[in-house]
Amino acid sequence: MDRFTYRDGQLYCEDVNLDTLAVEFGTPLYVYSQRTLEHHYDALSAAFADLNPLICYSIKSCGNVNLLKVLADRGSGMDVVSGGELFRAIRAGVNPAKIVYAGVGKTDVEIKYALGQGLGTFNIESEAEFENIAHIAHKMQATANAALRINPDVDPRTHAKTTTGKKESKFGVDIERAKRFFERYGRDAHLKLNAIHLHIGSPVYSVDPYADAIEKALTLIDELRGMGYEVNTIDIGGGFGADYTTDQSPSYATYAEQIVPMLRPFVEAGGKIILEPGRTIAANAGVLLSRVQYIKTGGAKKFVILDTGMNHLIRPAMYESFHFIWPTNVAPAHEPAARLEAMPNEGLEPADIVGPICETGDRFAKDRPLPPVARGDLMAIFGAGAYGMVMASNYNAMPRPAEVLVNGSEAHLIRRRETYDDIIAAEVNLESPASL
Ligand code: LLP
Repeated sequence: MDRFTYRDGQLYCEDVNLDTLAVEFGTPLYVYSQRTLEHHYDALSAAFADLNPLICYSIKSCGNVNLLKVLADRGSGMDVVSGGELFRAIRAGVNPAKIVYAGVGKTDVEIKYALGQGLGTFNIESEAEFENIAHIAHKMQATANAALRINPDVDPRTHAKTTTGKKESKFGVDIERAKRFFERYGRDAHLKLNAIHLHIGSPVYSVDPYADAIEKALTLIDELRGMGYEVNTIDIGGGFGADYTTDQSPSYATYAEQIVPMLRPFVEAGGKIILEPGRTIAANAGVLLSRVQYIKTGGAKKFVILDTGMNHLIRPAMYESFHFIWPTNVAPAHEPAARLEAMPNEGLEPADIVGPICETGDRFAKDRPLPPVARGDLMAIFGAGAYGMVMASNYNAMPRPAEVLVNGSEAHLIRRRETYDDIIAAEVNLESPASL
């Protein structure tokens, strides 16, 4: 779970009262708990310790360089999907050999940058991409490892927009094509194809789809080895769950119980395992703190209007995701004993929780039972650490929130609030270029 807890009706992140952060840094504000991040990283490592895996934290879930440093200090590698994410990882001091680079559309500029940095492994999504990276590597006289991303055709039973391991998705190649892929490219001297990568979707709340996919990968590896190819690494991707509601996700032990025994023989024979967790590390480590701007009633409906919306946390609008939202200051009877979709507390009243953006879809929750809230109150949107700030935009020309990292009783600003000047900083003024 996490280190966001109520004490005497007030919400704390570790030992810091969130209301004091709102006063000091303003709202909307992303607040992260360092100990939660560390705890998730350590607990996942411990659960999979028998496999001695390289954990490559998935930067796309939450990429502030200061957070990356926290994880890099614990030995984490990184999973990146663009030159920009690679830049972040390198700025955070991550050893490039511990970076894996996925994504279906890597450009020549990005590939050259990655090769120049001594990237560990390219996760390859297609024949055309392999040929292009190999060609560039030959020209640069560089070498890198490559993992073939297979599409194991399993259903992770998650949202359609975040399902990746089914046959009809754009990611990876079919198992049947994988053998031909190795026959064609398995002996390249510069781009060494020696690993299998898979990522089935996100979030995946049951272990069975992993087991199905891993079984298919192991069968394929046996066949490839039989054909004389070296396969020394399996990267099982990310997708492990987070607790948007209390205890929603299987524990790390539950994932590991099924996955570790399947992969142990591969590891005992000298193979290496990579995991690419993002959400499970970051989601519960962050909240988005917002101030209620107005309470509006329309007919029988009540709207709680926040100073943040789909521009800063797009998940409810994009995936109909549930985020627990609760005032930071509540009467004792309204302290949440658990974060649930249907809260058992007495005296709650339903409201739509919406943002300021000029779109009907800018809504965090519909008919959500809430304790009494008034203009000026602070609300915390929980489970916002992953795919929150990274997906934030300047839509409606609103500055993106500041980010604060809490460690014990200390709070550090790790990204300042954007200004209006920031919003137009990259725009060229044709009339008078110098004046911007
Ligand atoms: N590896 C690969 C190849 C991925 O595509 C992803 C996520 C991950 C690892 C990390 O997955 P995680 O452990 O975070 O589940 N914006 C969506 C999620 C998109 C996930 C994209 N790929 C959301 O807010 O739910």
